[in-house]
Parts: sequence; C-alpha cells; structure tokens
Amino acid sequence: MDELPVRCTFTTGKRTCLLLFLPAMFNLTCRLNVSLTMIPILVSVGVVGVAVLLKYLLTPSNPWETDRRSIQLLNKLGEGSFGAVYKGLWNNKTLVAVKTLKHGSMNPQDFLKEAQIMTTMCHPNLVKLLAVCTTKEPIYIITELMDGSLLDHLKNDRGRRICLSDQIKMAAQVASGMAYLELKNYLHRDLAARNVLVAKNNICKVADFGLARVVNATPTSFNQTDVYYIPVGNALFPLRWTAPEAIASEKFTIKGDVWSFGILLYEIITFGDMPYAEMNNHQVKEMVANGYRMACPRGCPRGMYLIMMDCWKANKHGRPSFETLHKSLVNFKQF
Ligand SMILES: Nc1ncnc2c1ncn2[C@@H]1O[C@H](COP(=O)(O)OP(=O)(O)OP(=O)(O)O)[C@@H](O)[C@H]1O
Ligand SMILES: [Mg+2]
Repeated sequence: MDELPVRCTFTTGKRTCLLLFLPAMFNLTCRLNVSLTMIPILVSVGVVGVAVLLKYLLTPSNPWETDRRSIQLLNKLGEGSFGAVYKGLWNNKTLVAVKTLKHGSMNPQDFLKEAQIMTTMCHPNLVKLLAVCTTKEPIYIITELMDGSLLDHLKNDRGRRICLSDQIKMAAQVASGMAYLELKNYLHRDLAARNVLVAKNNICKVADFGLARVVNATPTSFNQTDVYYIPVGNALFPLRWTAPEAIASEKFTIKGDVWSFGILLYEIITFGDMPYAEMNNHQVKEMVANGYRMACPRGCPRGMYLIMMDCWKANKHGRPSFETLHKSLVNFKQF
C-alpha cells in the first residue's frame, strides 16, 4: 500500500499530440530531399523531440490539481503544526476549507502521490478531499468545510450539552470511518481528537488521514516546543497517540491506528484532556514502553475503559479491529 504507483492519465490533448507528432516526423523525413550530412542532425532532432514528447506523455496529469487563482481565502479557521487552515471560496461558488502547508513541511511530489490515494477514500465519516494545489508552495489541500475540531468541540462543551450517549455515538462514527480505511488497507498515522472534525448534530468525520506519512522531520516542520510531535528517524510521530512498537520500529500498521483510537476514546471521555498530562515526553516514551497505561478516567464506564485497554495491548495482534470496535460501540450499553 505504501508505494502505489502514480496514475498516469493520457488526456485527449496528449493522445492527439502522440497521434500527430510521429506521423508528421515520418512524413517530413520521407518528403525532404536530405543530403547525407543532414541525416545526423535530423536524427538528433528526432531523438530529442521523441524524448521531450515521452516526458510530456509520462508526466502524471492530476485531475485533482486546481488553479490557485480559483480559490479565494476568507477568514482563518485555525493553525496546526504544519500550517494554517482557512475558510475559502472555490470557483466563486463552493465554501471549502483550505489547509496551507508551511514551506518545506513536505515534498510536493510525495504529497501529490499520497493525495491521489486520499481522493479515492469516500465514506460519510471521512472528510472529503476535494482538490489540491501543488505546483508551487505553499501546498493547498482543499477539503469539505466542517464546523471545527472534535478536540475544541469537547473542550468548549465540557459536558454542558454533550452527554455520555453522545460521546459513545461520536466514538462509533470515528470507528466507522476508520473501519473503512482498514478495509482499504490505508493507514491514518495521526488519529487524535484534533484530527476529527465535527459538523451539525455531532456528525464526526476523520481528517488528515495519510498526511503524517509525507511530513518531513525538517527543522521548519518540527519545532522543539511542539506539544504533539517528536522526530523519530526521518518522520514526525505524535508521541502520546503512538503505539510503543511503532516508535521502536519506526513502522506503522493499522494496529498502531487502533492504539491511537484508544487514546482518542480517552480524549472523548475526558472532554479533551491531554493524555498522560502529568508526564513529560521522555517519561511517556519510557513508561508506556514498559507497560504503563493511563488509569480509568473519572466518570468513564468500566466497559469503555476495557475497550481502551484492549486498544493498548502490548501485543498488537491482540488489539481489536476497527470493525469490531465499531460494533462494540454501536451496541454499547451504558449501564
Ligand atoms: N475541514 C475543516 N473545516 C473546518 N475547520 C477546519 C477544517 N480543517 C481544519 N480546521 C480547523 O483548523 C484547525 C487546524 O487544523 P490542522 O489540521 O492544521 O491542525 P491540528 O489538527 O489542530 O493540529 P496538527 O496539524 O498540529 O496535528 C483545526 O483545529 C480546526 O479548527
Ligand atoms: Mg489536523
């Protein structure tokens, strides 16, 4: 899954070009009464022409690429570690969210490859990627517009309107979106309440899937005061959400996403508390690897804590699938 080839689309323009260029070259050579000294020159011109044509034909054309001028940035919605997010107007008619990525936070070609896979992911609990602008930096990622992040939603509410049954329903929706990614063999790598977005009636959609794979751990993208990410090898890992084996091996699996889902459940139940709030990053890394797990949060039903603990099993093969998690949450009995 990691290295899917870039799709090469032969547009009508390219086909026409191919159909016209080769016969034209052949025709020209036959008709011209060329002297022997001209042949090497003509051959060189022909070879260069064919090379340029092949490069043009083999360059992937991306149907998701949109002209930057078709997007009007309106107000800023928020800012993450890798750039700011704006409300935008696309083609003068559609309101969208535009994520702008800081210069150097990812390689545009790598991102483009990933974006082509992301655009094929379609599920009611996944934020829809609509288009990208990758021809120059800053890269723009255009997605459907939501009301805000689940983390802010939970923190702002703190139990005033959201009750346990709402929390369980929100968790079930995230599990449903993740079960779809699981089915498609696609990894999120940065599942957390900040990366789930909310719309009217507590509709939750998972956002930013796959992006973590293409983020560079360069000094521009990583700053020492970042509360979420630490550099591991060439990548940035959201330490407090990451399974210990993923940090140790620098490799992600869907079971790493399941671990993160357990942390996300903790965030939902605590109305957005920081995981391992009383520990620094170094302590989290050491203690979790040695078997430490967060205690059952106040007010959390025992059954919900057991689901979290299942997600945090040291042996990743013992962790549930997202499909099972979704079923457990849909059928969850509060008392
Ligand atoms: N599609 C969207 N619709 C509405 N608001 C959005 C959308 N995407 C992002 N936002 C807002 O922009 C904020 C920043 O999002 P972003 O993904 O850049 O950072 P983050 O997820 O909060 O943190 P980080 O990227 O550091 O993990 C979000 O918290 C949310 O409030
Ligand atoms: Mg995000």
